[in-house]
Amino acid sequence: MNAITRLATVISLASLFPFSALAADAKGTVEVVHWWTSGGEAKAVKVLENLVEKDGYEWKDSAVAGGGGAAAMTVLKTRAVSGNPPSAAQIKGPDLQEWGALGLLTNLDEVSSQNNWDKLLSKTVSDTMKYDGHYVAVPVNIHRVNWLWINPEVFKKAGIDKAPTTLEEFYAAGDKLRAAGFIPLAHGGQPWQDSTVFENLVLSIMGADGYKKAFIDLDEKTLTGEKMVEVFTALKKVGGYMDENRAGRDWNIAAAEVINGKAGMQIMGDWAKSEWTAADKVAGKDYQCVPFPGTQGSYTYNIDSLAMFKLSAKNNTPGNIAAQNDVAKIALEPEFQYVFNQNKGSIPVRNDLDMSKFDACGQASAKDFAEADKNAKLEPSMAHNMATSLAVQGAIFDVVTNFMSDKNADPAKAGKQMSSAIKAAR
Ligand code: GAL
Repeated sequence: MNAITRLATVISLASLFPFSALAADAKGTVEVVHWWTSGGEAKAVKVLENLVEKDGYEWKDSAVAGGGGAAAMTVLKTRAVSGNPPSAAQIKGPDLQEWGALGLLTNLDEVSSQNNWDKLLSKTVSDTMKYDGHYVAVPVNIHRVNWLWINPEVFKKAGIDKAPTTLEEFYAAGDKLRAAGFIPLAHGGQPWQDSTVFENLVLSIMGADGYKKAFIDLDEKTLTGEKMVEVFTALKKVGGYMDENRAGRDWNIAAAEVINGKAGMQIMGDWAKSEWTAADKVAGKDYQCVPFPGTQGSYTYNIDSLAMFKLSAKNNTPGNIAAQNDVAKIALEPEFQYVFNQNKGSIPVRNDLDMSKFDACGQASAKDFAEADKNAKLEPSMAHNMATSLAVQGAIFDVVTNFMSDKNADPAKAGKQMSSAIKAAR
């Protein structure tokens, strides 16, 4: 059900029953701010809503549309500042520490110890979910960002017989797709999407170590060096395979262009798979997922998590606290982990589940994650709030998006601009 149909259903139900009557039997309410509004992602989050309602709680859905979550974060900040936070919100990575430091998050000690979270989660994940040694958020999934999505039918029509594994092969495929009249690379011109492409190129050209130096150490030499010039030169070339009317386009609309055979490829994290799944397409048959060319062996991760807020005086009732804890408990249970992640395109965040229940892309993701972990090639995604503060991320986004929208931008200058912007933001 898309957001509009869902809204229509809610409105028509509400006209049959006054809202208070609908909620009257609920033991408590949990309000959740998130940005999962595309067809496939809305279906995934509905799984959580249904399970919470099954436990007798009311789910108040406060979705804020906008891929990557910038709009949701703005809403969240305004609400927190005015003393009216939701019960739960999608907050990720290092950002959790910033919210924790403001004293706004509640601790999940009871639910996490009762349900053995320390045992279920890898240490990298559990450390990220803790502020000052206490869980303040529950992780729901692991997304991989360094993927390339391919429509094999379109490839065939353009005379391309295999998925590209290097940047040179990627450019060759782009040329053939263009010559055959397709959009080679579907893309939405939004800062987080631009930077998703950019970080993939950094990983491809600089390797796992260079990626770490650039986005974790924020090392000036790496940010301004020759390899970074190569990255921006490649970004310009890759931008040439996107269509000119891409400004503002949502990622799921770009995904639909590949699904519908208008475009050949998309560079996107595996939430893109949620759209293929929602369109009843089968991984490995109707579409292909391959590591972004040149990044084989590495895995850029993006872990979604729901942080729990201290409730405002008006909402701070035992029932509402119980509803919050219920969300936290359900989120790590196998039932939710399977169905949510199958719909969302991600893999479970706990590693004791049976991956044979997942499609070819899900299985490849789980295998590649384990391998990258062994070889120190697991990288936090910069574009998806895993590597830096939001301020530093914003500085990188600005430089990358300005670069991509300016045909005359100079690759030799962009790295230096990025380094100064990062310094100013730190
Ligand atoms: C990411 C988020 C994903 C997906 C994507 C597109 O930041 O982690 O779950 O929603 O944005 O909006």
